[in-house]
Amino acid sequence: MKLIKINKEPEKIFFTGDLHYQHKNILTLDDRNYETLEDMESYIRAELVQTLSDDNILIDLGDMFFGTRDNKFHGLMSCIPCPIYKILGNHDKEKYFREHSDYFEMIEDSVIIEVGNQRITLSHYPILDFPYMYSGGLEIFGHTHGHLDNFLKTIPYLMVDIGFSSGFSKERGTFLHSLDSIYNYFDEKTSGKNYSAWANEKYHGQDSLWNP
Ligand SMILES: [Fe+2]
Repeated sequence: MKLIKINKEPEKIFFTGDLHYQHKNILTLDDRNYETLEDMESYIRAELVQTLSDDNILIDLGDMFFGTRDNKFHGLMSCIPCPIYKILGNHDKEKYFREHSDYFEMIEDSVIIEVGNQRITLSHYPILDFPYMYSGGLEIFGHTHGHLDNFLKTIPYLMVDIGFSSGFSKERGTFLHSLDSIYNYFDEKTSGKNYSAWANEKYHGQDSLWNP
C-alpha cells in the first residue's frame, strides 16, 4: 500500500465517506431523514461550504457519488474549496473520477497516510488486520453504514467507520470529521494512552491477544 505524507495540522484534515450523492434509494436504505433527494443533497452542499476553507484537506473514503451526472458532480465539487484526496468506493465509477482527476490531489483504492508520526490506513472497506496496527497505527474507513458498529466496540482495534450513516457520524451530527475529533475517539478507546504503548500492551504484552 502506498504511503503518503500529509503536512497539515490534524484539525485541518477532514474526513468523509458514503455521501451517496444522487442516490435516491439511500434515503430508505439508510433511513436518512430527508423528504427528498434534493433535500439531502442541499444539506450536504451547505455543510461542505460552511465547514471547509481553502486551508483544509478533504479526504473522501468512498461512495461519494452514485451515477455520473455531470451537473450534479460539478455542483458538488464547486462546494469543496480545498484539495480532495479520493479513495474509491464500490459505487464510485473509477473511469469517471480519472477523467475528472483535475479535481483530486490523489485517487487510490487504499493508502497509508502519515500525519506527523502517526500512520493511518485509509480504505473504503474495513481491513481487519491493517498495516502498522501492531505498532500504534490507526484505520479509518467507510462502506459499512454503521452495520459493524457493535462489533467494532467489542474488539480492541483502533479502526473506525466515519461514513455518513455510521454511528460515529450520527452521534456527532455531522458527516465531516476533523482528524482531531477522530483522535479523540481513539483516545477514549485507549483511555488516553499513547497508541504505540497501547498496541504494545495489547498485542505484545503479558495479556497479548495473540498469546492467551
Ligand atoms: Fe460502499
